[in-house]
Amino acid sequence: AKTVNDAVKPLCWLIGHWKSIKAEGIYPTIEPFTYCDEIVFESIGQPLLNYTSKTWHPEKGNPMHFESGFLRINPGTNNVAFMIAHNFGVTSLEEGVVTGTTLKCKSTQISRMSFARDPPVLAIEREFKLVENGNLEITVYMETAKTALTQHLKAVYEKM
Ligand code: HEM
Repeated sequence: AKTVNDAVKPLCWLIGHWKSIKAEGIYPTIEPFTYCDEIVFESIGQPLLNYTSKTWHPEKGNPMHFESGFLRINPGTNNVAFMIAHNFGVTSLEEGVVTGTTLKCKSTQISRMSFARDPPVLAIEREFKLVENGNLEITVYMETAKTALTQHLKAVYEKM
């Protein structure tokens, strides 16, 4: 039986299937773009949530960025650690705090395979928050070896 672990209570608002209704990418080095994203935060009774994000091109439909990992919470606290594998050859460990229906995290470690594409990602920061109509808004910032920390993604999701 799927029950939500007590430790995960501060993250309950994230649980479910989310589909983007508006998703935009920007960065100083690239052309602005839009994308579609389906995110799942799933509880299977453990003190963590299983996570996947699958994006695709809004017109051509081809797969783009994929992420999967685990959002762990230190039981009895609001401190979280997000451990993510990205399909472009990077893994990230991001830590932060959940406050009400806002979760903010910052990378503490990023590793990269030897033949991952340039430029190396040096930092990732994310903010998840519930907005009007029970929608979820996610903002992602990143720093690379070429560019200081700045926004890369902003997307709004509705629950499926
Ligand atoms: C470009 C990292 C999420 C789509 C880039 C670049 C990096 C990067 C390092 C190259 C920037 C440069 O050349 O200066 C990341 C990280 C992500 C992320 C760390 C998550 C934390 C996404 C998502 C999408 C996406 C979800 C949605 C489809 C793109 C596109 C480009 C790009 C279209 C420009 C073309 C290209 O370089 O392939 N991203 N990205 N990214 N990203 Fe992301």
